[in-house]
Amino acid sequence: MAIKKNKMKVKNICCIGAGYVGGPTMAVIALKCPHLNVTVVDNNSERIKAWNGPLDSLPVYEPGLPEVVSKARSRNLFFSSDIKGSIEKSEMIFMAVNTPTKTEGDGAGMGADLRYIEACAKDIAKYSNSNKIVIEKSTVPIRTAEKIKEILDQNEKALNFEILSNPEFLAEGTAVNDMFNPDRVLIGGSETKSGQKAVNALVEIYANWVSKEKILTTNVWSSELSKLASNAMLAQRISSINSLSALCEKTGANIDELSKAIGMDHRIGLYFLKASVGFGGSCFQKDILNLVYLCKYYGLDEVAEYWHQVVKINNYQKNRFAQKIIDHFGGDLKGKTIGILGWAFKANTNDTRESAAIDVAEKLYNSGATLEIYDPMVKPETIINDIKDYWSIKIYENDKKIKINQTPNFAEKIDGFAVLTEWEEFKNLQLDLSKVFDGRNIFERSLYSIGKNTNDNDCK
Ligand SMILES: NC(=O)c1ccc[n+]([C@@H]2O[C@H](COP(=O)([O-])OP(=O)(O)OC[C@H]3O[C@@H](n4cnc5c(N)ncnc54)[C@H](O)[C@@H]3O)[C@@H](O)[C@H]2O)c1
Repeated sequence: MAIKKNKMKVKNICCIGAGYVGGPTMAVIALKCPHLNVTVVDNNSERIKAWNGPLDSLPVYEPGLPEVVSKARSRNLFFSSDIKGSIEKSEMIFMAVNTPTKTEGDGAGMGADLRYIEACAKDIAKYSNSNKIVIEKSTVPIRTAEKIKEILDQNEKALNFEILSNPEFLAEGTAVNDMFNPDRVLIGGSETKSGQKAVNALVEIYANWVSKEKILTTNVWSSELSKLASNAMLAQRISSINSLSALCEKTGANIDELSKAIGMDHRIGLYFLKASVGFGGSCFQKDILNLVYLCKYYGLDEVAEYWHQVVKINNYQKNRFAQKIIDHFGGDLKGKTIGILGWAFKANTNDTRESAAIDVAEKLYNSGATLEIYDPMVKPETIINDIKDYWSIKIYENDKKIKINQTPNFAEKIDGFAVLTEWEEFKNLQLDLSKVFDGRNIFERSLYSIGKNTNDNDCK
């Protein structure tokens, strides 16, 4: 779509949602656009407090983020709980709130829960006194812009709201670099004159540091669907290679050799071909399930089943990984202690949402194991909360069979260990641990790094 030169003045930007996307993306926009005031608001006041607090305890751990926040926060980046005031004064409003899988009602377990998006739209309709550009930064189902428009048009002040789709492709762990050097920036808008003016206003913001060839403009629906499709394609590669890892183990082929041989074909490419314990993170599973739901909604049952299989293989792989450890010890883990190295869903983040570690640890525990858990960036209370919230069995306070460690110095106590996050520091640790195990009963103390988790498991 051609971008028409039609300027719209933007001075104040608001972003609703100060999470893993809202915080880092707005920090980078503020850094790269010193002429703009960027305010990130959230209804979680603890999060806002942390964003305004010391740089070593920001709510999101990302390499390079403290430096960006430090520079921008002293100038044109603000974190606030004043949602009303920030909406009132901004010409452009990003919505970067969570869009989890629905847990009840129509589409439960599959469709996206849009209640937070709808709440944002209601706030914007209520507090706006002037025309606004409203931007979907969250990942949403196709045609969500229509729903947002319906809500915004209920405002009583006859204002004009232009809705754009600008999905975020950053990957946690490399978010700052991804924002600095994006593969592409995608902006979907309506083809009306005012729609094009709004698209152009957003293009001009990114053009402060991204070359115009990398800024792709489309209609709203293509943009919304592109994000779901990108995540589905990335996750599909992970499930494909993981499914082949099972066949390798039966046949004597080596999955790393296979990945290399496949990936050297330039039509396939090397990325996202590393076998792992399965993908995690807040995006892949929920976005594929959302795609499956959409396909079913439009009567495309075969297409739905095709994509659903990507999630099913991921669950199979997590289960298979844990079962291999159990089988190795003769069918159960009673009396055994297993070290869990890594709880975050990937390296270089403190995010544990949908982490494979949660499911693998549960299966090992259920088989009788005592767990010694360590992650360099995840707080012990987060690990405990994940266990309480996501394990299907109830855990009692101070369960002696679950120990969360502040250091990984538990080698003497364990019978085996599972590397579930590929933190750099585990590479040396793995060597040390293998040395500790060498002089002992190798059968019981072998190295369980089968199918390590990899960095190839995030939205990008
Ligand atoms: N995390 C990623 O790597 C990533 C990458 C690309 C896209 N996305 C998408 O971006 C969106 C946000 O993801 P996230 O990981 O940042 O989520 P998050 O849970 O970390 O952050 C969302 C924030 O929105 C706040 N919020 C919710 N409703 C609100 C309301 N009505 N008013 C004010 N604040 C509100 C929450 O308190 C929370 O702090 C999701 O749609 C996700 O799919 C995430």
